[in-house]
Amino acid sequence: MRFDVVTLFPDMLQGLFAEGVVGRALQSDDLTLNCVNPRDFTSDVHRTVDDTRYGGGAGMLMKAPPLAQAVQSLPRRPGSRVIYLSPQGKPLTQHKVRQLAQQEQLILVCGRYEGVDQRFIDHYVDEEISIGDYVISGGELAAGVVIDSVARCIPGVVGQVQSVVEDSFFEGLLDAPHYTRPAQFEGEAVPDVLASGHHEKIEDWREQQALERTWQQRPDLLEECRLGTGQRRLLRDLLEQENLQRGQRGSNVSIALVHHPVYNKHRDTITTSVTNMDLHDISRTVRTFELDRYYVVTPVKSQHELIARITHHWTSGYGSTYNPNRKEAFDQMVVVSTLEEVRQRCSAKGERLVVTVTSANPASTSITYPQLARRIEEQRQGEHHLILFGTGWGLTDEIMAQADLVLPPIDGNGRYNHLSVRSAVAIIMDRLFRYYRQP
Ligand SMILES: C[S@@+](CC[C@H](N)C(=O)[O-])C[C@H]1O[C@@H](n2cnc3c(N)ncnc32)[C@H](O)[C@@H]1O
Repeated sequence: MRFDVVTLFPDMLQGLFAEGVVGRALQSDDLTLNCVNPRDFTSDVHRTVDDTRYGGGAGMLMKAPPLAQAVQSLPRRPGSRVIYLSPQGKPLTQHKVRQLAQQEQLILVCGRYEGVDQRFIDHYVDEEISIGDYVISGGELAAGVVIDSVARCIPGVVGQVQSVVEDSFFEGLLDAPHYTRPAQFEGEAVPDVLASGHHEKIEDWREQQALERTWQQRPDLLEECRLGTGQRRLLRDLLEQENLQRGQRGSNVSIALVHHPVYNKHRDTITTSVTNMDLHDISRTVRTFELDRYYVVTPVKSQHELIARITHHWTSGYGSTYNPNRKEAFDQMVVVSTLEEVRQRCSAKGERLVVTVTSANPASTSITYPQLARRIEEQRQGEHHLILFGTGWGLTDEIMAQADLVLPPIDGNGRYNHLSVRSAVAIIMDRLFRYYRQP
């Protein structure tokens, strides 16, 4: 494989790979590192490669012609790719690294100053790659990261292939912890299992540790992992242990389905009817996410009686023996007459009450889903979160204005946004609790 780097500072790259395992490999016949300097493709006496930006603004930009000529000067192997290292590129992941390792040649273009002329990117670059969501002064370090990570995947570069396969991210999880001599360090011994010589047990221990670490440090990675039944069981155990230590996840959240006051389609303030499906489905969602309570808010006495009849069937009548799971779900449901009553019940828990509203069409929003998820997680024992869902044509302006936080609407794939409230509740809860733990 051949790496060509278009850079104003070839010595930086040569310096990076003067030593180490990848450096040695780059001296072999299988791997080549070649640098080309755009300054060698200038015609003026100062060998100018940068200029001011059209439209003004601080900082210089790399000119397109020297970069283009530098790329054109390179011999091309079939399937070679031109990559511009840029904070605006797709993030470099282990998956991407493995894809790049299949290529015969990578031409890596390093920007400097404020970056490069867009027309060079449009005409010469196959893809842009970022090494992370931060900005560094030039593409050389980023190119070094690409070369090192890609070269490690090429057979023969790293002594034992197995050590690459067991690295973090290769199988989607972080690596397990490792130990070497001495057997005791500052009073801490190496875990017994590692010294047992029992390979199967060591393998199991490492698998378990890798999963546990990923869950602790990078739970977002678990979303992309195809986990087996045993792994899922282990994650549930970890979650339970954590719930015991930090309080049950979700228990600082209640939701209220507001039947009054809400708007009708003429924006008159009205009271909507309770529906059987909302009672069932929202109760099940509340139970699934281990929330504290599901409040159904309606001032209408006959509606209270109707709900009592339905719930009686499932909590004490025939339904409770036919389907005990449904009883469990309905046990979280509380019917109240006013929103004020909900506030009082939530406040009685002694934690600070935070009211969040949802709408298909809010005038403005004040928090994102990940931000609210983090807040709920961090304040597991400090705040009680009440999330309000409207019925009819939505919560009144007054209720919206009194809230502490406003969530964005759930956007679909087009203009139609008329989800049922029970679907919205399920989607929002999934967004707020989607990882096993927030990263
Ligand atoms: C100071 S940066 C320019 C940043 C550019 N103005 C922007 O905001 O997108 C100069 C050069 O460093 C490189 N660079 C900076 N951050 C990077 C990152 N996160 N990943 C890859 N390359 C990066 C790019 O080659 C870039 O052209």
